[in-house]
Amino acid sequence: MPTVFITGANRGLGLEFARQYAQDGWRVLATCRDPIRADALSALGPAVTVYPLDVSDFAAVAALGRELGAEAIDVMIANAGVMLNSSMSPAAIDTDAWMRSFQVNTMAPLACAGALLGSVARSNERKMIAIGSLVGSIGAATQGGIYTYRSSKAALNSVWRSFALDHPEVIAAVLSPGRMRTDMIRNETSGWDALPPPEKTASNLRILIARLTQADSGGFFHHNGKTLPW
Ligand SMILES: NC(=O)c1ccc[n+]([C@@H]2O[C@H](COP(=O)([O-])OP(=O)(O)OC[C@H]3O[C@@H](n4cnc5c(N)ncnc54)[C@H](OP(=O)(O)O)[C@@H]3O)[C@@H](O)[C@H]2O)c1
Repeated sequence: MPTVFITGANRGLGLEFARQYAQDGWRVLATCRDPIRADALSALGPAVTVYPLDVSDFAAVAALGRELGAEAIDVMIANAGVMLNSSMSPAAIDTDAWMRSFQVNTMAPLACAGALLGSVARSNERKMIAIGSLVGSIGAATQGGIYTYRSSKAALNSVWRSFALDHPEVIAAVLSPGRMRTDMIRNETSGWDALPPPEKTASNLRILIARLTQADSGGFFHHNGKTLPW
């Protein structure tokens, strides 16, 4: 039975990944900040084991990596993310929110990758996935603003690419889910109701993850499988 590890699995895209992998017969190691309040995740059944984890607590990330050290983890998905103070103006940026964005969106995925490297490398699939964003692409940018979130996701691309080059024993890729109907952008988007649900996006991303090969390691891909510019 293959195993997937997911951060931020209590809602949004992470919850959908957990639900779909469990339905598909995978063992799911699901993490979230507050398991007591993660009712939807806990209801997924015995295939899902829930671990408390604030991904910005890097000591806790390392400790969980040691706890899971004997496991073989086929797919690790660094999904947890925040969009804080997504300012359109440099003067309005809250520097604490910017730092926090880097902790959660950039540094935490790399901390998870480091902590779980041995477990993923000894698995059959050997895949390490970071959930990025199209706005993290410098080459594809057609609009400005969203400085805090954008820069943290651009930096995620950079660290994930470096990690892939350093670790050919795994297949490491950044995947962009596209805009989805989740809490993250509920208050930002006028056409929120018309956006695809996370169910559809998780399904597309799971197909893409299953198709990734060693030749894709170090890449940045849209949910439809197309390569994105850095
Ligand atoms: N929604 C979009 O349109 C969109 C577009 C492009 C990329 N993305 C990316 O997709 C991923 C999933 O986002 P989503 O849309 O599902 O957002 P969401 O519904 O807001 O869910 C975010 C998840 O991240 C968790 N999280 C935040 N900070 C955390 C921390 N310090 N430690 C542990 N977990 C933490 C949240 O947990 P709590 O419940 O404890 O807060 C929640 O489970 C993110 O990386 C996001 O940047 C989303």
